[in-house]
Amino acid sequence: MNRIVTYNDVEIPPFIYGTAWKEDQTARLVELAVDSGFTAIDTANQLIHYQEALVGDALLALAKKGMKRESLFLQTKFTSTSGQDHRTPYDASADLTTQVKQSFDSSLKHLHTDYLDSYVLHGPHSRWGLNQADWDVWAAMEEYYQAGTTKMIGISNVQADQLKELCEKAAVKPMVVQNRCYAVMGWDKDVREICKAQGIIYQGFSLLTANQDVLRDPAVRDIAKRVGANPLQVIFRFVLQIGMLPLTGTTNEQHMKDDLAVLTQFELSTDDVQKIESIAG
Ligand SMILES: NC(=O)c1ccc[n+]([C@@H]2O[C@H](COP(=O)([O-])OP(=O)(O)OC[C@H]3O[C@@H](n4cnc5c(N)ncnc54)[C@H](OP(=O)(O)O)[C@@H]3O)[C@@H](O)[C@H]2O)c1
Repeated sequence: MNRIVTYNDVEIPPFIYGTAWKEDQTARLVELAVDSGFTAIDTANQLIHYQEALVGDALLALAKKGMKRESLFLQTKFTSTSGQDHRTPYDASADLTTQVKQSFDSSLKHLHTDYLDSYVLHGPHSRWGLNQADWDVWAAMEEYYQAGTTKMIGISNVQADQLKELCEKAAVKPMVVQNRCYAVMGWDKDVREICKAQGIIYQGFSLLTANQDVLRDPAVRDIAKRVGANPLQVIFRFVLQIGMLPLTGTTNEQHMKDDLAVLTQFELSTDDVQKIESIAG
């Protein structure tokens, strides 16, 4: 596989382990994921879906076993009040710059680190356009990037027009985008095209859960049989070959190994890739 390098020259591992919905199993699963070979971890400072502090517990356990901070890629997110319940990791009545500061500082504490590899805006405030609140949050995130306390900044759950506007007007355009990726939307083609043109790394999630029809498709099953893999692995390999960086949230040790195996164990032909793209179309 080609190395994945951001436009500001930071390398990202080719597969990310996602920690959403793991609840009290978070620490055990993060440790297992790293022991299984994952070196990139995605979380968020948002207690509705993530247990960031338990990711930190796993990092402490891994450090005890000799894991160096620099060998892991840690990505977390700022989630605005609309994506939080009453357990905001910041003073919800404070201005947005303060909210980002408090959330960022608490993420560093949770993760027992003095820098992040990637800090992501969990989503713009609305599905349409970017408003002043988005710009205030982005400016606060840019400051952390400029100060070197995060190696990159990014945005999630973003529409193509919003990404375009951000790239045009921001002082620092995002290095990464993280979106749910539906085959029926051409695997998020509009957003991926902007990413490609701007040199932004596209991270895809819900690749399996959002694309059950593709997994069941006879063409995918045939390809899987031929390359000696299962259909899920074929999807992960396909997205890698079209230039995406996938996330997986598996809770199973064998599945962790199976997911990582797609990086090395087989390759799809151009014809296979086109076939899978056309199922999506
Ligand atoms: N930015 C956002 O708003 C946002 C939203 C959602 C997710 N995310 C991120 O993306 C991460 C991944 O989420 P996701 O939605 O893609 O994953 P997910 O919902 O956790 O889905 C993974 C599913 O695929 C199954 N799976 C994975 N590998 C498998 C294999 N080799 N064989 C069989 N089943 C397999 C898992 O089952 P098993 O557990 O049985 O393996 C699980 O049911 C999250 O943890 C989070 O970090 C971000």
